[in-house]
Amino acid sequence: MGKIDKYKEVDNLPNVFTEPEEFRKIFDVLRTRFDRVIVELGSGHGDWLLKYAQDNPQDLFVAIEIKGDRIWHGAKEAHTKQIENILFIHDDALKFEQYFPTESIDELWIQFPEPLPKKKHEKRRFTAQNRLEAYHNLLKPKGKIVFKTDEPQLFQFTLKQLKDLRGFQVAQQDERFDLYRPNTGPLSLPTYYEQQHLEHGREVMLLVLEKN
Ligand SMILES: C[S@@+](CC[C@H](N)C(=O)[O-])C[C@H]1O[C@@H](n2cnc3c(N)ncnc32)[C@H](O)[C@@H]1O
Repeated sequence: MGKIDKYKEVDNLPNVFTEPEEFRKIFDVLRTRFDRVIVELGSGHGDWLLKYAQDNPQDLFVAIEIKGDRIWHGAKEAHTKQIENILFIHDDALKFEQYFPTESIDELWIQFPEPLPKKKHEKRRFTAQNRLEAYHNLLKPKGKIVFKTDEPQLFQFTLKQLKDLRGFQVAQQDERFDLYRPNTGPLSLPTYYEQQHLEHGREVMLLVLEKN
């Protein structure tokens, strides 16, 4: 199926949402039926989150991705296989707080986001201070942000954002995560982009933040 056809089909899939109100109605019902809520921003095809969801049917998962032809892959597979514990938001992750009530998320995953190196795009970076503040509101107490990147400048930028930001503590910081990957759990599984970076000998940096 070509890119245009994926774009045409994606928003008609029953597990894909493009409007906050429509999503909230379903989310508010579903979240009472599952143990934890796990969200990924900029999920690409959504294959990593789909695997995590299949391994954890007791939890509810939400993938957010701006490109319809990418998110189509995960959404189509979940729909075809009737995987009920994952939803897809086809929208800009910078609008993410419109979709979720306060203190509704247990884990927020940000994996290999666009580095947006230009200064004028600083506030649009997924780990800019204004974004971290928004995530803080939506995380439950003790909720976590898991951030991975192969871009040292973005990693340093993120650490700097934390300097005068209250409400988070660093639970894990690892500048050579590629050397010390755990054998089990969601961090054991590289994402699509992560796999590409590893094959090109890039180093992977990990930061886990916990809401106080
Ligand atoms: C480098 S890819 C990483 C994909 C996936 N997380 C992985 O590690 O394989 C970054 C993804 O973020 C998406 N993206 C970029 N800006 C976005 C935004 N503002 N809102 C939602 N998704 C965005 C891109 O379309 C792309 O799929």
